[in-house]
Amino acid sequence: MSSKPDLRVLVGRQEIEKTIGRLADNINEDYRGKNPLIIGILIGSFVFLADLIRLLEFPLDLDFVRLSSYGAGTETSGKVRMALEPGAQIKGRDVLVVEDIIDTGYSLAFLIDYLKKKEPASLKLCVLADKPSRRQVPVEIDYNGFTVPDEFLVGYGLDYNEKYRNLPDICILGEGE
Ligand code: IMP
Ligand code: MG
Repeated sequence: MSSKPDLRVLVGRQEIEKTIGRLADNINEDYRGKNPLIIGILIGSFVFLADLIRLLEFPLDLDFVRLSSYGAGTETSGKVRMALEPGAQIKGRDVLVVEDIIDTGYSLAFLIDYLKKKEPASLKLCVLADKPSRRQVPVEIDYNGFTVPDEFLVGYGLDYNEKYRNLPDICILGEGE
């Protein structure tokens, strides 16, 4: 029996940095002269968000929501609820949602539906990683860092049972875990 976690680097820190630079360039172009409200989804997006917003060159407001889906382990169930609601007013704002990874799409479809009802001036979505092979509901992504295979990923904010968020690279967690 080994206690060493089975981790393989999928995206290294240099490639992450380069990709976030590319995302920030696109976001800077689209939001120039605006003052958007950026909403990060806790907890997973916090590392990505921290790196991304420091490259943004327009004034912005920052808020967070927390979603939780019923069901444990590595599978998301279709039922999502909001464990922490946004504190900021959404109505009339240019809202940019920042998420770590989109998998089935249930979480983001739920959040986008919730936010649209609050009548933002505009609503866009930025994800660090997209796992399109597992999508159950369609979600339009405006800015995507990486398209990733159907593997369970950890690191750079992503967790498995709250572990591994601190790894600097995006890693594949093997079956052994
Ligand atoms: P969805 O509702 O299935 O799209 O799930 C999205 C959420 O599930 C993300 O916010 C993550 O918290 C989590 N998730 C999905 N895939 C992974 C993964 O590979 N590693 C870590 N978390 C994941
Ligand atoms: Mg999440």
